[in-house]
Formats: sequence, structure tokens, C-alpha cells
Amino acid sequence: MTPSPARRDLVGRTVLITGANAGIGYWCAELLAARGARVLLGCRSTHRAEVAAKTLRAGVLGADVGTLPVDLGSLAVIRDAAARVDERLDAVICNAGVKAADPADRTEDGLDLMVGTNALGHFALLARLGHALAPDARVVAVGSLAHRFARIDPATLSQPWSGPSLRRYGRSKAALMSLTFELDRRWRGSGRSALCAHPGYAVDPLTPYRDGLAAVSGPVRAAAALSRGLVQGKDAGAEPIVHAVVARDAAGGEYWGPGGLLEFRGAPARVQASAEVRSSAIATELWSIAEELTGVRFAV
Ligand SMILES: NC(=O)c1ccc[n+]([C@@H]2O[C@H](COP(=O)([O-])OP(=O)(O)OC[C@H]3O[C@@H](n4cnc5c(N)ncnc54)[C@H](OP(=O)(O)O)[C@@H]3O)[C@@H](O)[C@H]2O)c1
Repeated sequence: MTPSPARRDLVGRTVLITGANAGIGYWCAELLAARGARVLLGCRSTHRAEVAAKTLRAGVLGADVGTLPVDLGSLAVIRDAAARVDERLDAVICNAGVKAADPADRTEDGLDLMVGTNALGHFALLARLGHALAPDARVVAVGSLAHRFARIDPATLSQPWSGPSLRRYGRSKAALMSLTFELDRRWRGSGRSALCAHPGYAVDPLTPYRDGLAAVSGPVRAAAALSRGLVQGKDAGAEPIVHAVVARDAAGGEYWGPGGLLEFRGAPARVQASAEVRSSAIATELWSIAEELTGVRFAV
């Protein structure tokens, strides 16, 4: 059971979290629910969503939890999921992510699996959620240190890339971050805001046990404990993301992550994003290509 938080300051606020049935997404939901927020678990598996919702309700007294079936790898499912949202969203956490894939792996719509899911899936979802977003809604995209390992070339965004999986993953996260900073620029003055946050290096064996979530054996946990000085659990990895959503000192256009060594672990702090994901020239081109590839016009 999550200890009663000092503050239940988020009562009346609703946050949609994609990929909330596991890892960092689940922990964002638990941290927000413990502060009184209603959390909407956006998951591609109804069964896994229900398991996470049950765990959350068992762990957080009075948790207000809903589920939204959404597969970020299917533009048709995204369209239907967004249309189903009939409540006001105060925030959306774009967390769902594919971290490793074969270059040949594609989404249902034939897009590169990591770019299509991590970046374009969230772009299409946000574009279709306009009717539900509160006038002061906040979007937080989950970026990664890996965004630095890749160059964004908007023209080849969904073409297969060879090379290490980490670099291809970095491309998808760089694209997501670039589009998020561009969303914030386009929203400026509207009351809405968008920013990025990353969880550092967050692993399941250092994460507290939760029923139905990643099972880690005792020996693996014991071995992983040796790395606690360098990396962290996914509960801690969720902290900079939740901070970006709710903290008074976090603002649109910022990038938050763990403030410790190499940004692998530690308390939330403002961190640096690459010049490339900060470039409005690249982002403008990327935005048009994202609209073209998803077939969704993102009116702001
Ligand atoms: N862990 C780290 O150190 C780290 C570092 C930097 C950034 N990140 C980012 O943080 C986010 C969460 O990572 P994690 O470590 O918590 O990963 P995780 O435990 O593997 O969880 C990933 C979540 O994304 C969901 N997902 C994947 N593809 C999806 C799709 N097509 N539609 C809907 N949901 C989908 C998964 O759902 P299923 O259960 O259905 O597969 C799962 O809920 C990711 O965006 C990742 O890139 C993580």
C-alpha cells in the first residue's frame, strides 16, 4: 500500500498516461493517483490494463482509475481511442514506447516501428484529442538520453535505418521530443503547454514489487542491488516525469530528468536537450512530415 501522501493536491485533475500497464507509465499513474488525480491508463492490451488498474486500486486508497484501449502502433485504433475520450484531460503523458526493434519491424500502417509508435503514434493521438484537452492542458513526452545518439532527418523519418538499435531508438525519441517542443511553441499564449522529461536509467530489478507487473526473481534483485548507486528503479524514473506534469517550477518547453551522475538517477532537475531537438527549423519540417505520414492534420 502506498503511504498516504502529504498532499492530495491533484483531486479533480485527470491525467491520461500511455503505456501505463507497466514500468514507468504504471509508476507515473501510481504517483499521480496517490496525490488524488484521476488516472486514465492508455494501454494496448485490455487485460494488462485491467491488471494494472486492479493493482493500483489495491495499492492506493480511493484511487480513481479508468482505462482507455489504445495501440500507438495503429492509426485507426488511435483515432477510435481519441474519439472515445469524453472527459476533460488536464494532462497527457506520452510514455508508451518500443525500446528495441528490428529495422524491418513496422507498425500496422507500415511505419518504422519505433518512429511510428514512439513519435508518430503520440503525434496522431494528441492531434485527435483537441476536443478533450483542458484550456490549460499540459503534455509531457517521455524522452531519453538516447535522443543524443541520432540525427533527425525529417525526409527519411519512416524509412528503415541500419545500424545499432539504440541509434534507431534514439531517432524515434529525438523525433518525439522535437515535435513536443514544437507543440509548445505553437501553443504559446494559449494556456496549454508541452515539455519533455526522461527517467534516466530505470530498471525493473530495482523497482518495488507490484502484483501483476514485471516479475523479477530474488537473485536478480539481489544482484541488481549492487548497481543502485548508478541506476534506479522505475518508480524513481517516474519522478521527473510526474514533476514535469505537476510541479509549479516546471514550464512548457523545458526538459526534466534525474539530476544525478550522467542523469542516470537522482531527484528531478532541468537538463539539456540537444540543439537538434531544440531546432525550430527541423521541427517545422518534421511537423509537416508527421502530418503527411499519419494523415492527421494537427490544428493548434
Ligand atoms: N527504462 C529506462 O531506463 C528508460 C530510459 C529512457 C526512456 N525510457 C522511456 O520510458 C518509457 C517507458 O519505459 P519503460 O522502461 O517503463 O518500458 P516498459 O516497461 O517496456 O513499458 C513500456 C510500455 O509501453 C507500452 N507500449 C509499447 N508499445 C505500445 C503500443 N504500440 N501501444 C501502446 N502501448 C505500448 C507497453 O505496453 P505492453 O505491455 O502492451 O507491451 C508498456 O506498457 C518508454 O517510452 C521508454 O522509451 C525508458
